[in-house]
Amino acid sequence: MYDTLDLKVENRVAWLTLNRPKSLNAMNHEMIMELRKAFDEVDQREDVSCVVLRGEGRAFCAGMDIKWSEELTKKDRLESNRLGQKTFNKMEAMSKPVFAAVHGYVLGGALEMALAADFIVAADDAQLGLPEITLSAHPPYRPKITEDGDPDQPEYGGSAPGWGGVKRLPERVGKALAKELMFTGVRVDAARALQIGLVNAVFPKEEFEDQVKELANRIGAMNPYNLRLVKELVNHGYDLLEGHPS
Ligand code: CAA
Repeated sequence: MYDTLDLKVENRVAWLTLNRPKSLNAMNHEMIMELRKAFDEVDQREDVSCVVLRGEGRAFCAGMDIKWSEELTKKDRLESNRLGQKTFNKMEAMSKPVFAAVHGYVLGGALEMALAADFIVAADDAQLGLPEITLSAHPPYRPKITEDGDPDQPEYGGSAPGWGGVKRLPERVGKALAKELMFTGVRVDAARALQIGLVNAVFPKEEFEDQVKELANRIGAMNPYNLRLVKELVNHGYDLLEGHPS
């Protein structure tokens, strides 16, 4: 049982739903720890062939819980970055296909998590971005630097998306676009996200649930060993693995 997530399995599809809708599913420490547990659980369950990650309420997820973030000491911040990276690496390493079905806000750590999935599909109301850099600027563009420096930023070393986005976004959309998105912190809408290859498909909001279900059920109906094999081949850049001895 989970407090911050909802997990249900139907037709060999595990529906893993972020479930803190009052905070737009912002990820706190508890949610990260529960995600780690859930990734292990669904990867091991024999009745699951495909995993879908989604969010309850009006957003997929508004990123790291800012209340958690504000409590962190500098040391804790490094630890929380490490924890997020390890968690999404764990998700990426799952042997089963996992895709993110996103709607509404998909910001910061939320986009970093979605990028660790095999692919992303979006509802047409989705807004995706890595706004971390704007957390050190007054909206929209004025630097928040006072005579004493920037109160919210490290004195040296800098701060960047900490949960794998700096690696995965350039891999998905190319370095130049990824840099522009991370230098500006702007959100892109679903149509633009489709155009730049950040998401594989965009569905109208009214059809989103049905379309995602159809896609998930189709993948879930495939032979699980074949799904695992295809994922391994693509992830490792091989075109052939030795078959199992018969
Ligand atoms: N953490 C905690 N609570 C959050 C949250 C977050 N990231 N985002 C939204 N919420 C809460 C709000 O505080 C609000 O709660 P109350 O009703 O109790 O006041 C509730 O969710 C609804 O939010 P809003 O009223 O703000 O809704 P909105 O539609 O007006 O705005 C928003 C939505 C643009 C997403 C705005 O909430 C926002 O800018 N949130 C912060 C987004 C952000 O910067 N995320 C990135 C975090 S950095 C990160 O993730 C770091 C990393 O890489 C490791």
